[in-house]
Amino acid sequence: MSSPPSSTPTPPPNDTLLVSSISAQTFTHALLTAHSVPSTHATIIAHCLVSADLRGVDSHGINRLPSYLSRVRTGSLNPLSTPTLTQITPAIARVNGHNGFGFVSAHLGMQTAITMASTMGIGMVSIHASNHFGMSASFIQQALDANMLSLVFTNSSPAMPVWGGKEKILGVSPIAAGAPASEGNVPFILDIAPSVVARGKVHKAARRGEEIPRGWAVDKEGRETTDPVKALDGGSMVPMGGPKGVGLAIMMDVFSGVFSGSAFAGDVVGPYDTENPREADVGHFMVAMRPDLWMDMEEFKKRLEVLYQRVVGSEKVEGVERVYFPGEIEWEMEKRRKVEGIPYTRGEIEMLNREADKVGVAYIEVL
Ligand SMILES: NC(=O)c1ccc[n+]([C@@H]2O[C@H](COP(=O)([O-])OP(=O)(O)OC[C@H]3O[C@@H](n4cnc5c(N)ncnc54)[C@H](O)[C@@H]3O)[C@@H](O)[C@H]2O)c1
Repeated sequence: MSSPPSSTPTPPPNDTLLVSSISAQTFTHALLTAHSVPSTHATIIAHCLVSADLRGVDSHGINRLPSYLSRVRTGSLNPLSTPTLTQITPAIARVNGHNGFGFVSAHLGMQTAITMASTMGIGMVSIHASNHFGMSASFIQQALDANMLSLVFTNSSPAMPVWGGKEKILGVSPIAAGAPASEGNVPFILDIAPSVVARGKVHKAARRGEEIPRGWAVDKEGRETTDPVKALDGGSMVPMGGPKGVGLAIMMDVFSGVFSGSAFAGDVVGPYDTENPREADVGHFMVAMRPDLWMDMEEFKKRLEVLYQRVVGSEKVEGVERVYFPGEIEWEMEKRRKVEGIPYTRGEIEMLNREADKVGVAYIEVL
């Protein structure tokens, strides 16, 4: 285990406790409804957060609850809001999130895109006035469950400067795409931040009192740092592939922010910005497509399987034991964690139970 960063004097207790996905879901649902979130919305949010933990995307799981709930308590995120839908054409719709939870707006957006695609072949939805929606793969999975190809874009709060710039105006906004495989086979799920890693991984290291690897982030003076606290305190994330990662981050802002009517160019408020009373005004962009537009579904899935086999069957370079398809590591992790439970640190469980104390909800059940 890495040693704690210099600016975190007392490391939190990092022994691991296991929680079943059902208990995590029940706890999250109870905590949300205790904050006035309608039960149907709480079910969607809990499902998205627990799916992230199941897939090993622990940076975007239930440990996000304290910051989301803090924004609810300060009135900057409206827990009661229900997103509304405007049909633009038979294949195009717009969702207004009314400053409610991003998960709920994004879920409605993808559901609408799927419905339109089932008759029109393609469905495109723009979402504005939303909030952070966590792991993009949640909405890719929604499309996969309906046998659809999909694109899921979002913008996010400033975390990265432009290439050659100093000022942070870009979010590390993930780009995501999916394609369905035949029953039991690994689907294609690409879900990647345009930075070397998502900033959520720096928050995760900070809450666990761990160091981050070199190359992830810089401090406020622009120096490489392994201290997550320095990276978060005025520092910024490092783009993946230099100007190419920056280009992808700008692309997410064009489609999710400029196009939707939401905030953009550094004006989105971050989910951890609990002191900021402003609405986050996050934008998303979603497309669902039927895979059987030019061939039947079976043919499409056979062709995807050929691609999968050629990718994972590639001759490996020395030292590599196995080649993975995009999303396969998370796919396997989910199968394992559904059986074994989700590991959280004791410090994380204590943090979540402090949230439960605030509203008189039962503690999270540990296996
Ligand atoms: N909502 C937001 O504003 C926001 C912002 C940033 C990130 N995120 C989320 O954060 C999550 C993590 O993003 P990230 O960029 O840190 O992802 P990551 O770096 O952990 O992984 C990216 C991809 O690389 C693949 N991968 C890793 N090692 C591999 C290997 N050896 N062989 C083949 N593939 C491999 C993974 O399977 C995964 O699909 C995503 O779910 C994203 O949606 C959300």
